[in-house]
Amino acid sequence: MKTLVTYMTQTGNTQRIAEAIFDEIAGEKDIKEIKDASNFEGYDLVFVGFPILQFNVPANVSKFVSENAAGKNIAFFMTHGVPEGFEAIKSWTGSLEDVAAGGNLLGTFECQGEIAQNVLDMLEKSDDPEMKAFAELGPGAKGQPDEAHVQKAKEFAKEIQAKVQ
Ligand SMILES: Cc1cc2nc3c(=O)[nH]c(=O)nc-3n(C[C@H](O)[C@H](O)[C@H](O)COP(=O)(O)O)c2cc1C
Repeated sequence: MKTLVTYMTQTGNTQRIAEAIFDEIAGEKDIKEIKDASNFEGYDLVFVGFPILQFNVPANVSKFVSENAAGKNIAFFMTHGVPEGFEAIKSWTGSLEDVAAGGNLLGTFECQGEIAQNVLDMLEKSDDPEMKAFAELGPGAKGQPDEAHVQKAKEFAKEIQAKVQ
């Protein structure tokens, strides 16, 4: 049983979750940023992590997964500025089943991640009231993912791994 944890991060939030998952999983394992990972070959289970950027799954992430998903056990983890369970998340991610088509999608973990100050400044200055409203989420996201979220990510890692053993 060999596991890959691969992720994209810009400000470290998704990396924090990636490392928590990586620490928790048993057996042979590797952790790599997506930019340093070439494919899923040789892995029985792959955790793929990303931040939501501009109301989307980053294009390089969906491309990498869809090119490599065939026949693989896959689990996603993501961080986003909005609180967990925020209604729009589903429309932003679309169908992660489609991204992992041809593979076996075992589960998805999501948690809030602190929003970079330059993004908050940009939202704050926007003329669009919806964008301005997002800026108000900044204080609530500060310090996320916190220790409680890290623990939840570890539980997720264990649950997913149990599904393939
Ligand atoms: C350019 C940019 C766009 C973002 N767009 C969204 C968004 O559409 N929805 C959201 O909930 N969070 C958004 N965020 C917040 C990030 O998803 C969140 O801060 C995430 O935890 C960052 O992860 P990272 O530190 O691993 O890069 C955005 C952040 C950046 C920098």
